[in-house]
Amino acid sequence: MAKGSRHPFEPFRIKMIEHIDLITYEEREEALEKADYNLFNLPADKVMIDMLTDSGTGAMSDEQWASLMRGDESYAGSRSYHRLNESVNRIFGFKHFLPTHQGRAAEGILATCLLNEGDLIPSNTHFDTTAANILARGGTPTNLVIEASEDPNDLNPFKGNIDIGRLRQFLEEYDERIPFCMVTVTNNAGGGQPVSLANIESIHGLCREYGKPLFIDACRFAENAWFIKQRELGYEDWTIETIAHRMFSLADGATFSAKKDAIVNIGGLLMMNDDELYVNAKNELIMREGFPSYGGLAGRDIDAMATGLIEGIDEGYLFYRASQVKWLHDELQDMGVPVISPPGGHAVYIDAGAILPHIDASEFPAQSLSVEMYLEGGVRSSEIGSVMLSFVSPESGELVTPNLELIRLAIPRRTYTESHLRHVVDTAVAIVKRAESIGGMEIIEAPELLRHFSARFDWIDR
Ligand code: F0G
Repeated sequence: MAKGSRHPFEPFRIKMIEHIDLITYEEREEALEKADYNLFNLPADKVMIDMLTDSGTGAMSDEQWASLMRGDESYAGSRSYHRLNESVNRIFGFKHFLPTHQGRAAEGILATCLLNEGDLIPSNTHFDTTAANILARGGTPTNLVIEASEDPNDLNPFKGNIDIGRLRQFLEEYDERIPFCMVTVTNNAGGGQPVSLANIESIHGLCREYGKPLFIDACRFAENAWFIKQRELGYEDWTIETIAHRMFSLADGATFSAKKDAIVNIGGLLMMNDDELYVNAKNELIMREGFPSYGGLAGRDIDAMATGLIEGIDEGYLFYRASQVKWLHDELQDMGVPVISPPGGHAVYIDAGAILPHIDASEFPAQSLSVEMYLEGGVRSSEIGSVMLSFVSPESGELVTPNLELIRLAIPRRTYTESHLRHVVDTAVAIVKRAESIGGMEIIEAPELLRHFSARFDWIDR
């Protein structure tokens, strides 16, 4: 990787600031103990650089704040809904869409409408809420991402791709038990890696052959489209909008968390072409979220989403976004911190398993590393390893653990500057230097589903 790559020029200037408290080591130690070593339990004012998620944490533009003021709060058919309709049609182009309060609500409705006990849902990698929504209805989420995804140093430009051979085999073997297929763009749980258009075309072809609808988890569709433009032969002259159109024309619907590529603090969408599914989903929406023209959101949120969707496909913005992620990736790598390569779209993933090879997966090396990132530098990251991703398969009754123990440094959109990220690099480097002295953790208490949000931990030997 290029040594000394430059941090990109930010295509905006700062109009309003949010204060960051500088927290001492002792204060961090105390906060962590109170939080039972679960970073989700930390009060945000005890965090200096918050990289827990890129979801709902980006900075809105002046135009989006103007949208908030313009928001029409009519119960039915608001002007804000019509603005959203325009943006959604411009980008996604499905026959129907429903606003939801966030992505997981769309996933929940989709699973309620289409899933039966014992069903199997293949994808590249299901995100945790998608997997939980499938598991909660008695289904099994199945991940069929290509093998390269498991190798942090494999430079395949589309490590989010589904293994087409395995998908065909899976469809052949379990045909009647598969109500629909999914693909996540970009593949968040697998390192924020993109999926190529060629791969989506092949998935589409297989889904047609076996008569399965295909749903795209489209949270980071714009970042995915950017990578297609940069990395896939033949698309360099396409606009992000046309690439997005092509992607979605290959699917029967999509779930979407607007908290990512629509750069808003709250919001989501469920989209589909099928009329019957639309009617059923609309009923579910009305019961749980709200009337179809607001779906659990205020009119102002809908308006900000309509504006953010269009800002999110701006190429100047996407260049800056991808370059900032690459900058952090390259700096860490140059300083000897093992990261997943090539850089993905919204986050840099540190290979905790490689830094702490002396800690077994059962003692959660990625949890140890994320706790150390906080202690050392006040940096909050998230664990994407055995705490988050292992589960007992309803199919086999066995514990399924992930192949990689990672921590994710998610970069909120338009929020942190080069010096903030420099601090993150310094923090990681300091930890790598004393890695041998770091021990594992144990779970004191945890719920069955989505345990990473609320589990209580402690050090094993401290
Ligand atoms: N799908 C993917 C790929 C996601 O990354 C997320 C959320 C969701 C679905 C659910 O969307 O939060 O609006 O309900 N990811 C966040 C994250 C939480 O930190 O990666 P939501």
